[in-house]
Parts: sequence; C-alpha cells; structure tokens
Amino acid sequence: MITRPMISYILSTRRRSLVGCEVGVLFGANAEDILRMLPMTRLYLVDAYRNDPNYRGGDHIKIPQEEVYAEARRRMEPYADIVRWIIMDSQLAVLRINEELDFIYLDANREYEYIRNDINAYYRVIKSGGWIGGAGYGTDWPGATRAADEFAAKINVSISAEYNYSGCRHMDWWLQKP
Ligand SMILES: C[S@@+](CC[C@H](N)C(=O)[O-])C[C@H]1O[C@@H](n2cnc3c(N)ncnc32)[C@H](O)[C@@H]1O
Repeated sequence: MITRPMISYILSTRRRSLVGCEVGVLFGANAEDILRMLPMTRLYLVDAYRNDPNYRGGDHIKIPQEEVYAEARRRMEPYADIVRWIIMDSQLAVLRINEELDFIYLDANREYEYIRNDINAYYRVIKSGGWIGGAGYGTDWPGATRAADEFAAKINVSISAEYNYSGCRHMDWWLQKP
C-alpha cells in the first residue's frame, strides 16, 4: 500500500488529535492507511456501496457491493472505536456530519459534476486551517482536475498536487481552508 500524498502531507504537519473523513472507501485500504499513519480521534467513512450506473470505477464495480462492504468492515474492526460509518450517497452523508473536521479525502465518483458537488458540500464542514483534497488529479480524470482547479480559483487559494509515486499517472490534490 502506497501512502497517498495528501495523507503524507498531513502527517508532515505534525497535527495532533485529528478528526477526518474519507468519501469513497471501497475495501478500506486508504482508510486503514489513514488510521495507521495519522493520530485520528475520529474518522468518518462514507460510501454508498451500491451499483450506480453513473459510477465508472475500476473492476470493483463488478463485485457485489455487500462483499466489498464486508471486507472494509473487517479491515476496520481494530479501529471500531474511531470510525463512524455513513453508508449513503456522499451528498446525503455530509448532512450527518455535525462537527468541523481537520481534513476530507474525496475519492468517490470522479466525474466533474460529482466531484464539484462533493467539494462544495464537504468544504463547509472543514475547520479553518483544515484541508480538502483527494484522489484523481491529473490526466486520467479531467473532470476531477477541473473541479478542483475551479474551486481553488474561486476561493483564491493555491492547490497542491503530487504523484502517488514516481512514474504513477495519478495524483492527489489538496488545499487548505483559510
Ligand atoms: C475509487 S473507490 C475508493 C477507493 C478508496 N478511497 C481507496 O483508496 O482505497 C470509490 C468508492 O466510491 C464509492 N462511491 C462512488 N460514488 C459514490 C457516491 N455518489 N456516494 C458515495 N460513495 C460513492 C464507490 O462505491 C467506491 O467504493
């Protein structure tokens, strides 16, 4: 498992007692990494776990979603006191978060309208000085890249982007809420 650049970046800031959220959990690989790497006091995990015709993910969309969810639940068992599952569409799930978060990692539907809506909705629940970002920045996902760039320009904040590893086509992006 490669630690995602946004997660490595948050680690480098040496913040303590973080409350965060991952939107799009799948098997829980990145969530597990977040929980191993960062000093989490709470991690919201949002995923609809349903076969959505508008979601063109990888091969995992062919697997029954209850199996995917069961695997993620198993993986999260050691962190049961910390994780808060919200199994619903990301736009509804955000309404269940009643506190301000240190970071949000967006990795659900990477099409333009979806990521744009997720950025707008989840930005509201971040603390000032916290971060929003996620996966899918770069050549393979022009919609995600456009949505992130447009949002950064709208709030006049610079965006950071970093390849997952040398030679990888995929980048994380993130920005800090002023
Ligand atoms: C790329 S995978 C997430 C991978 C995970 N972040 C990781 O790095 O291990 C995307 C996930 O987003 C979920 N998803 C897609 N559209 C969604 C939506 N509108 N609301 C909630 N979850 C969604 C899918 O069910 C899928 O599990």
